[in-house]
Amino acid sequence: MSDLILLKPYTFQTEKYNNRIAMAPMTRSRAGNEGNLATEQMAIYYADRADAGLLISEGTVVSKKAVGFINVPGIYSQEQTESWKQVTKAVHDKGGKIFVQLWHTGRLSHPDLHNGELPHAPSAIDPHAQAYVESGFIDTVTPKEMTIGEIKATVLDFKNSAKNAVDAGFDGIEIHAANGYLFQQFFTGTSNVRTDEYGGSIENKARILFETLDALKDVISYSRVGVRLNPSLHNAQGTTLDKDTIATHEYIVKRLNDYGLAYLHLTEPFTDVSEVPYAVTEVAKHFRPMYNGLLMINKGFTRETGNKVIEDGDADMVAYGVPFISNPDLVKRFELNAPLNEADRSTFYTFTDKGYNDYPKLGE
Ligand SMILES: Cc1cc2nc3c(=O)[nH]c(=O)nc-3n(C[C@H](O)[C@H](O)[C@H](O)COP(=O)(O)O)c2cc1C
Repeated sequence: MSDLILLKPYTFQTEKYNNRIAMAPMTRSRAGNEGNLATEQMAIYYADRADAGLLISEGTVVSKKAVGFINVPGIYSQEQTESWKQVTKAVHDKGGKIFVQLWHTGRLSHPDLHNGELPHAPSAIDPHAQAYVESGFIDTVTPKEMTIGEIKATVLDFKNSAKNAVDAGFDGIEIHAANGYLFQQFFTGTSNVRTDEYGGSIENKARILFETLDALKDVISYSRVGVRLNPSLHNAQGTTLDKDTIATHEYIVKRLNDYGLAYLHLTEPFTDVSEVPYAVTEVAKHFRPMYNGLLMINKGFTRETGNKVIEDGDADMVAYGVPFISNPDLVKRFELNAPLNEADRSTFYTFTDKGYNDYPKLGE
């Protein structure tokens, strides 16, 4: 047995984690059924990975309008809520914990996914990115600027989905405020040129996130809510950094201290930002001093670097993405310092068990 701190049990407030490893949220597009329900195939996938300290589900949409990928599951309908019970039960039966990631893609979507209607966004600005539809990845379009009523309705969609998550047996929820999706579109000057209370100042650009958090108080304890941010996202996911981006994220992170959340989930930059003005190159190091609670960090970590970031005091947990796709027994492999299976990118978003439930565990 390894003595890595990464692998040791960890308690934060009253919550006990079997280790400091999380599975990062990852869209796998296996909910290609009418109603976009969770399935038995998905229950097997998550239960197979249940020895992570925490599983975070794939992005799960809070409404029909939130969709930006085909075949992703939702958690806004009663039927969807029921369908997730087999997943949470399968994970709990294996002694695991699972949060559901609540997702609205905003302008990173396409009319093909909305009966020909435009996707919703803070402002009518095309991200010049791609959305994943029936025919594969296609170019995005100029979205529709949301009315105040549509913003308020979206906040309620998050609240409704959080309530459904509790009913479905999830241990908590993660608000997806990262990776260029709806919330980050509000945070960023290149996607938000609104002149009302949701645009302009830093406080205004961050408003939708805090209104969402405030709306949750009636349906879930904040100790079961995480928030995901990707502050240095640049030239990816239709997002470019501007002079206020980091300051906006600093404001958000500091204000999140008031909520007593389960965790703050940050990602290191997705692209090389060493030459980019206004970027932060070391996200965990930069934000750690501003946040008092559990800080989870992600992106590109190995067994050794994940252990080091915790030892250095820059994070409390590490989320692994791609390594968990191809290694259902990742925790065990880390314990034994065993080699890892390579992931097959061609099956990340396909529909069958190939590249999903067929990666071998050690000894298989
Ligand atoms: C197939 C795939 C799907 C992903 N889907 C999501 C998602 O639904 N929500 C999210 O926040 N991030 C998503 N991500 C990003 C991952 O959570 C993670 O940030 C990324 O894989 C980097 O971590 P890694 O280097 O450990 O793989 C996805 C990544 C991959 C590879």
